Amino acid sequence: MTRHFLVDTDLSPEEQSEVLDLALQLKRSPYLRQPFAAEGAGRKTVAVIFDKTSTRTRVSFATGIADLGGSPLVINAGESQLGHKESVADTTKVLERMVAAIVWRTFGQAGLEEMAANSRVPVINALSDDYHPCQLLADLLTVKEHKGELKGLTMTYLGDGANNMANSYLLAGVTAGMHVRIGAPAEYQPDAAVVRSAQERAEQTGGSVLVTDDLRLAVSGADVLATDTWVSMGQEEEKAERTEIFKAYSLDAEALALAAPEAIVLHCLPAYRGYEISAEVIDGPQSVVWDEAENRLHAQKALLAWLMERS
Ligand code: CP
Ligand code: NVA
Repeated sequence: MTRHFLVDTDLSPEEQSEVLDLALQLKRSPYLRQPFAAEGAGRKTVAVIFDKTSTRTRVSFATGIADLGGSPLVINAGESQLGHKESVADTTKVLERMVAAIVWRTFGQAGLEEMAANSRVPVINALSDDYHPCQLLADLLTVKEHKGELKGLTMTYLGDGANNMANSYLLAGVTAGMHVRIGAPAEYQPDAAVVRSAQERAEQTGGSVLVTDDLRLAVSGADVLATDTWVSMGQEEEKAERTEIFKAYSLDAEALALAAPEAIVLHCLPAYRGYEISAEVIDGPQSVVWDEAENRLHAQKALLAWLMERS
């Protein structure tokens, strides 16, 4: 059975831990695993497709695939037939005969599911409207490096609680046995189905879920504070309205002061200083956002190597 990574819970708690441990090894020894260059390895090319813009995801996948002995083929979907002239299923049936894996940043989760259903090679979600699971592997790796163990830590996400990052913080965080809190306006909290899925996972791992519109309750004593843009890709026209809705949930010095004294700050980037995070916080001593950005590379290499070894 081909393994795909479309949502954070596609890795069991044990598997997530294996991938993070491998990421730490690959950070120390970048060429330790060569799944695309090993004797008897199949195809070397990995397709990396973008329906939305990207800096970190594009560079980290391209670099990581090369480090693993493969050859990245970065495709801007607007310059391919995918989505306009050809269905997801038909494009996938062609790609899977030529490439070792497919990485796709897109809008709807349903497209990724359709791709995975038609692919005998691993399909990886490089961000959809619903989830950003590769980012969470990098975030958890960063927390592990700075805090040691993940299990038992409290991780709070502030801001747009209905976006891809909020969903992935919930699912990946509880998979690691963390206590995940979402502080967001009542109208912008995670979907009930995502909260249910996170609660089910938390029951297995000893983690927990708290969703609240009370910023003080969300942040109080947290070990990790995270936020994300209030205007995700595709929502640009709602910028003025969203800025007004989320302004009480900014990750600023006042919010940070409520967290644990040694709390660290995450932001997946790109960041909008003065909106979801203040310059003082993102550029301050508790911010680990540049480690987090670098860890995209190590975490995704581990994920790719892990998936290729199982396909
Ligand atoms: N964090 C993240 O996914 O960044 P990019 O949009 O630049 O890829
Ligand atoms: N929520 C953001 C994440 C960007 C990496 C977006 O989807 O635009």
